[in-house]
This record gives sequence, C-alpha cells and structure tokens, in this order.
Amino acid sequence: MKTEEFKFSISVYGSIDELSQGDAFILSEARSVTQFAYAPYSNFLVGAVAILKNGETVTGTNQENASYPAGICAERVLLCAAASRYPGIGIETIAIAYNNLKGKSEHPVSPCGICRQSLTEFQHRTKLPIRIILSGMEGEVQVIENAGYLLPLVFSSDDLK
Ligand code: THU
Repeated sequence: MKTEEFKFSISVYGSIDELSQGDAFILSEARSVTQFAYAPYSNFLVGAVAILKNGETVTGTNQENASYPAGICAERVLLCAAASRYPGIGIETIAIAYNNLKGKSEHPVSPCGICRQSLTEFQHRTKLPIRIILSGMEGEVQVIENAGYLLPLVFSSDDLK
C-alpha cells in the first residue's frame, strides 16, 4: 500500500482592488454580465468572462428552464460559446461571479462538479491550463492557477484509450 497526496494552493485577495488591472477588469465584467443570466427559478445569477489565447473575450451566463435539468451553468455556456466562435483556441483566464438575489454575494463560490469536468476537458483539448478567478459581487477573491486542481482524479479521454 502507498499513500498518494493531492495538494494545491490558491491565492486569496481581500477584494477586487488587490488584483492586477487585467484580472480586475475581467472580474468586473463577470459581475456585470450576471445581469444577463436567466435564473427565474433559483434567483442565483452567474456570470463568467474568459480571456482567450488570441486576446478575444467570451462571456457566459446561467440559463435556466422550467424543466430544471435543461438549465445550463454559466461556465458551460461560456465554454460552448468559446469553442464555437474560436475553435481550438485555449482560454487563459475565466472570471466567475454570482449575484444571489435571495441572499448575500460576498464570498467566492466554486464551479459545480459538471462544470469542473467540462473545464478540465477544455483545457486538455486546447493544451492550455485555465486560470480561474472566483468572487461574488463584492468581497474576497480566489485565484486558482489551473482548473484541474478543482478535480483531482479526473476522468478524461486518456482513460478511454
Ligand atoms: N450555476 C452556475 O451557473 N454555475 C455554477 O458553477 C454553479 C451553479 C447555476 C446553475 C443554476 O442556474 C443556478 O446557478 C443555481 O444552481
């Protein structure tokens, strides 16, 4: 028997004011696009903004449905948009913000499990690690250098070989 340990670090900032100009810009854009979420069932508005390797910007917001499972998270809307508009181009950074209309939006929340799977497949297929910036509408900001850190022991296309 052996023990394998999985470890990663994240950077935690007190507020958007402590970020670099570039990171602060995409986080403020992510906060702004939460207004385009369609979330009448959860009232939890999520906005995501990506900077691609080619310098272009792509956005995504959660889009819900009366048939609840048909709803899609902001992160996967963004990944589908990026792959469709700029096929093959990697994503350098994604900022993800949320606005909880029923409560507070002052601490970062992490992508759901399905989005983690989609993020890792995207970075695998474009061969570029995705940096993730997480925050609410105010307060603390977390920066994770590689989306893969969020999904240890990932199932990937390599397992299908
Ligand atoms: N949601 C996202 O868009 N991204 C996440 O990472 C977590 C959850 C959405 C899905 C649903 O529309 C609402 O937030 C509440 O779960």
